[in-house]
Amino acid sequence: MNEMEKQYPFLRACRRQPTEYTPIWLMRQAGRYMKEYRALRKKYSFLEMCKNPEIAAQVTLQPIEKFKLDAAIIFSDILIPLEPMGVEFEFAKGEGPVFHHPLREMRDIEKLRIIEPEEDLPFLTKAIQIVRKELQGKTPLIGFSGAPFTLASYIIEGGHSKNYILTKSLMYQGRPTWNALMEKISEVLIRYLNAQIRSGVQALQIFDSWVGCLTPSDYEEYVLPYSKKVIEGVGKSVPLIHFATSNSALLELMKRAGGDVIGVDWRVNIGEAWARLGYDVAIQGNLDPVILFGPVDLIEKEVKRILDRIEGRPGHIFNLGHGILPETPIDHVAALVDMVHEYSSR
Ligand code: CP3
Repeated sequence: MNEMEKQYPFLRACRRQPTEYTPIWLMRQAGRYMKEYRALRKKYSFLEMCKNPEIAAQVTLQPIEKFKLDAAIIFSDILIPLEPMGVEFEFAKGEGPVFHHPLREMRDIEKLRIIEPEEDLPFLTKAIQIVRKELQGKTPLIGFSGAPFTLASYIIEGGHSKNYILTKSLMYQGRPTWNALMEKISEVLIRYLNAQIRSGVQALQIFDSWVGCLTPSDYEEYVLPYSKKVIEGVGKSVPLIHFATSNSALLELMKRAGGDVIGVDWRVNIGEAWARLGYDVAIQGNLDPVILFGPVDLIEKEVKRILDRIEGRPGHIFNLGHGILPETPIDHVAALVDMVHEYSSR
């Protein structure tokens, strides 16, 4: 751990060092549950906001100004590196991302470009630099990407999917095609994450949001080698959080793929998950985002339950088990952050 890392509870916890209290940040903490976000969003589309470094920086800082969070996460999206690869998509109103030309053939995959992040995505590197400057050391800044499987699923399905039939079909039938796609995505992610480190992020999170749809043996065979390659390709200069949802059957394998911290959702007992993972890796999670809809004494009960299961071990970062939901009451978010700090203070 370097001198900079020592001052921040979040970075210390990533390295399993003792902290005065359990650090907390929230996945999707910059977003629609905040009126400040909605006000800006009236004037710009989501992608316009991501691509304007001043606005992306401003949105990144909104939750930091409002709550006593222990880390900021750069405002962007896991789909951002796909456009310069040659994969076009849009956010259709109320539908999430839509890809008009999903890729399913080798000839399409061969055309994918390996990106040069600083040239292809200058707004992201610029936004990171602005945020670091404006944070003035108040909290560390997290960069992120999707994981190879989750990004492949969007590219192949053409959007969000319920059963991942096309993704799994490609995986099972066409080894050379699947391998070629996963290789290209992995190479892009290594460049994308390293560019974020060069621009100033102090930690990384890899979101494998949809990998929980796989059997453990399929994960091991078709996905783990690529996630591992990405994580190894990023090196050890900043701590890395490896997150997935519905991942309780994959914990040991995700640890094998790598990461200083494993992120879990709410469908698992965090104490049992950590015991299975082993205490040589840190853990993040695992409040059900719906608990934030209240009442406050319910939130308190669940916060205590999670912290009690951690038993004061160093290396826990409090978070939700998945992204914060758009209708979440703002005062409950503030109450949560304070509660975690108070109840865990040692
Ligand atoms: O955590 C943060 O605050 C940083 C910003 C962030 C966003 N997306 C902003 C966003 C992060 C880390 C993400 C990650 C992301 N994006 C994931 C992984 C996390 C997860 O939830 O599993 C995924 C799967 C995506 C892809 C994506 N982006 C979808 C499916 C959607 C539409 C659904 C939705 O939540 O609206 C988005 C849009 C998106 N990404 C919004 C935000 C704030 C909403 C855009 C709007 O204002 O309409």
